[in-house]
Amino acid sequence: MTQVIVGAQWGDEAKGKIVDFVSDRAEFVVRYSGGNNAGHTVVANGKEFKFHLLPAGVLHPGTTSILAAGMVVCPRSLVRELDETRAKQPELGKVVISRAAHVVLPYHMSLDALEEDARGKDKIGTTSRGIGPAYTDKVQRSGIRMAEFVDEGLFRARLQAVLDAKERLFSLFGQTPPKFDDVFDEYRGYADQIRPYVGDAEQKLQDAVAAGKRVLMEGAQGTFLDLDLGTYPFVTSSHPVAGGACIGTGIGPRDIQGVLGVCKAYSTRVGTGPFPTELLDDTGEQIRQQGNEFGTTTGRPRRCGWLDVAALRFSARANSFSGLVITRLDVLSGLGALQVATRYRLDGKELAGVPMCSHEWGRVEPVYETLVGWEGEMGAARALSDLPRETQDYVRFIEEAVGVPAAILSIGPGREQTIVLRPDLVWG
Ligand code: IMP
Repeated sequence: MTQVIVGAQWGDEAKGKIVDFVSDRAEFVVRYSGGNNAGHTVVANGKEFKFHLLPAGVLHPGTTSILAAGMVVCPRSLVRELDETRAKQPELGKVVISRAAHVVLPYHMSLDALEEDARGKDKIGTTSRGIGPAYTDKVQRSGIRMAEFVDEGLFRARLQAVLDAKERLFSLFGQTPPKFDDVFDEYRGYADQIRPYVGDAEQKLQDAVAAGKRVLMEGAQGTFLDLDLGTYPFVTSSHPVAGGACIGTGIGPRDIQGVLGVCKAYSTRVGTGPFPTELLDDTGEQIRQQGNEFGTTTGRPRRCGWLDVAALRFSARANSFSGLVITRLDVLSGLGALQVATRYRLDGKELAGVPMCSHEWGRVEPVYETLVGWEGEMGAARALSDLPRETQDYVRFIEEAVGVPAAILSIGPGREQTIVLRPDLVWG
């Protein structure tokens, strides 16, 4: 079974925990898009791991982790992450990095900051990891790929050519690009460390799928941060949606059997951009505190709001979800009555779906239904029937409103705080 795990909202849906949970039976776990803008926290064997580039499946020694062609990989961050992960758990699964993945270099990070500054009040609120500029180079056909990066002669030539071309761009900002020698000397060291991992990821993956191995594709960010389908321009520069798993890996759509859509029991967003159900009041603050809603990558406070099933319905179709994973139900405990947006209104008219343009996204009025909330600690629940009746009703409401069955519920950060409702949708 080849399965994709996708963020159904604006990212940070706790996909890392779910990938870790599901991947103990996977033979391959694949990151297909994005780079170290992502941040996945996994609590395993009493230790907390934070992943930005490595697939969360790397903690399972029998699993091969693939960083696929659709990714942009920062070598400095990857080397650090491999070292930090090994320091906590010496035995990791095998890691293979696609020769076609693009490399994030220091000039991408500088340009991310310069471009954000130039946007003034229209800032995207990027993670400042150089992700947008690295994808821009890819589209402009001037990016450096992993296969070139780990070949010292090729890297030297490509880096020189790219830095020469970047002079013009940096001069528009009244700046100069980083110096060739500084970048080359630092990064050839990373290339030496990364070289053993760079391989023919696409062939390995295609062979694995053909042989019927269990393959899990791990999405980063979320559907509404997708470059085409999200709240453009307040989006990331890649394709977090399920279709991105095909583009970014070399596996075709008919080889994907399942798509799990991960959503929080409420909504959050980091960075700027439309967020119809945002709560700017004490309730929003209470969710932020109870959920410790601060970014894994940047530490920024996340914007918090009610669950938005109007948006989730779009997400379900855009990704063809076979099952929903509802996370962080525990965070809503003690909040009192819960609002859920079921539809949007724009200029007094009800919309059939979501608007595709930010200037409209920013003006929609959510139409809410009120559900009864619940109280108390629920982290010890191990079955749906252990949860308060109101939590069960909340889950049933979401399933019905989105039109997708709930496959997994998550009620805390630990692996054991996970309730599987539909093993068939999780493991086939
Ligand atoms: P970039 O991906 O750094 O270019 O940032 C573009 C937008 O996507 C910003 O609003 C970021 O906050 C958001 N973003 C990028 N990665 C993540 C993520 O992993 N979780 C949540 N938001 C993200």
